[in-house]
Parts: sequence; structure tokens; C-alpha cells
Amino acid sequence: MKIISSKHDINQLAKQSKASGKSIGFVPTMGFLHEGHLALVKEARQENDCVIMSIFVNPIQFGPSEDYDMYPRDAERDKKLAKEAGVDILFMPSVDEMYKKKQSVKMMVTERTNRLCGAKRPMHFDGVVMVLTKLFHLTIPDRAYFGLKDAQQFAIVSALVDDFDFSVEIVPVNTVREPSGLAISSRNVYLTAEERQKAPALYHSLLLGKKRIAEGETDVTVITDAVNDYLHQHLTAKIDYVELLSFPELETISVASGNMILAAAIQFSAARLIDNIIMES
Ligand code: PAJ
Repeated sequence: MKIISSKHDINQLAKQSKASGKSIGFVPTMGFLHEGHLALVKEARQENDCVIMSIFVNPIQFGPSEDYDMYPRDAERDKKLAKEAGVDILFMPSVDEMYKKKQSVKMMVTERTNRLCGAKRPMHFDGVVMVLTKLFHLTIPDRAYFGLKDAQQFAIVSALVDDFDFSVEIVPVNTVREPSGLAISSRNVYLTAEERQKAPALYHSLLLGKKRIAEGETDVTVITDAVNDYLHQHLTAKIDYVELLSFPELETISVASGNMILAAAIQFSAARLIDNIIMES
């Protein structure tokens, strides 16, 4: 596995791969790798000749009061896991390498952004599309892999490549969970032992909502109320949102039908957890 920190070098390597007829699968991450990230690599490995992973904690997608400085990092462990998972090229640039000059042009997400996490994290997705635009240009992937755990991110990145004619296929990968149902996340390390025990209730609340829909309930308020009630009964964490929206458009609906996402976010003492279920009715 090659480890690269310069933009010039990663672009040269990607171009060489392409010139020799190899397809490139790209897995962008912020590191502190876990089973979720590795599931993306596994799929990329199956579908491409060359797998590039990036590890870059992107400062411009964090708000001023968010956890950029605290975000968990472990470069040595990440290198080992990436190598074992079959990554060919690991791109680990510094912040100065990625953002050298004062930026003169910025990107702004206008749809799919002011609901769910975007509502509480203004500019977050602007930062995500800006870094991914740079990373896509540098790594020239045929396919890029995104976890459905961050379904709003997947929906916005799909819109990015569609609106701006990127020639990369955005491949969704199902959420990897612990046996308890808890979605695996780098931020789970912030949970106290007691919170970790209770956290699977987040997924179970969404399963309850899904069950109500399968039983024939179509009133969105009734469904989201049931999810909220379950969370209140099982957790003391603050509920940020519970929403049932169309997917991938992320528009509000009053009747549950078609492609939908049922999503929730909760705030524990130090960890904010998100989860969702995507379904069709
Ligand atoms: P990060 O949070 O490190 O996640 C990298 C990728 O791993 C994302 O596509 C995310 O959805 C996926 N992922 C995380 N947990 C997962 C799980 N339990 N199951 C399946 N996939 C999972 O998302 C980001 O980084 C950044 O915003 C990034 C796209 C790299 C841009 O900076």
C-alpha cells in the first residue's frame, strides 16, 4: 500500500492507473477507521482494479462549536487497517496541503440540506461538497463509495455529481451495525458505558416506525410520534429530530408512501448519534 500526502503525487498515481486501463474505486473518510469504513473498502475492492482511500478530517465541514479538535484520530492504526482491507493507495494530506490559499470560489448546497442534520449544521454540507469536489478531481475515480448511515450526505453527493456532471458513479453501502443494532460510528467512542448500553434504542425506535408503516399506518405525524415516544421511554438523551421524508429528495411528506427515509438524531452527553432506515411503501 502506498501512502501519499501530496495532491500532486496522488493525482499522478491516479492518472497512471487510468492510463494503464485500471478502474479506480474511491473511499473518502475522516479516519479512525471501523467496520463501517471497511465495508466500503470491501465493496470498492470487489468492483475496481485500484482502491484509493482518503483520510482527511476536513475542517471546513465542522461548525465553530463542533468537535473538529476533539475528532478522534489514530493514523498508525488506520494505516494498518487500510492495508489489511486491501487499499492500494492511502491519501493522507495535511490541512495546509488541501487548503493552501485563500479560497476565491465556494460552493453552496441549496436543496436536500435544510432538513435532518443540515438544519442544525449550517454550511456543513457546503464543506462536504467542497472537499469531495477536490478529492474527486485528485483521485479521478470511476466509482466512489458512501455509507447510507449518512443518508443525507449520500443524497447531497448524488445531487452534486448529477448537477455538476462529474463522471463518477456514487455507490451506496448499507449501514454496518453492532449486534445490538447500534450503527458503528467513529463518534461512539464519546459514549459513556451507560449511554452505550442504551444507544441501540435509537435503531429500535426506527424499526418500530418501520413496523407501523408495514402495518398500514400512513399518517407521518402518527409514525414520528411513535418513534419519539419510544425514544423518550428508553433514553434520557436529547432528541434532535425524528423525521420521515421522501428519499433521496428529502422533502416533507404528510402521507407515508413511495421511497422514504425515517431518520433520527439524538444528543448524549458528548456524542451526537444519527441513524436512519430507507424504505419503500
Ligand atoms: P466519515 O464519517 O469518516 O465516513 C466515511 C464514510 O464511511 C461515509 O461514506 C460514511 O457514511 C461511511 N460510514 C460511516 N459509518 C458507517 C457505517 N456504520 N456503515 C456504513 N458506512 C459507514 O463522511 C465522512 O467521513 C466525511 O463527511 C467525508 C465524506 C469523508 C467528507 O469529508
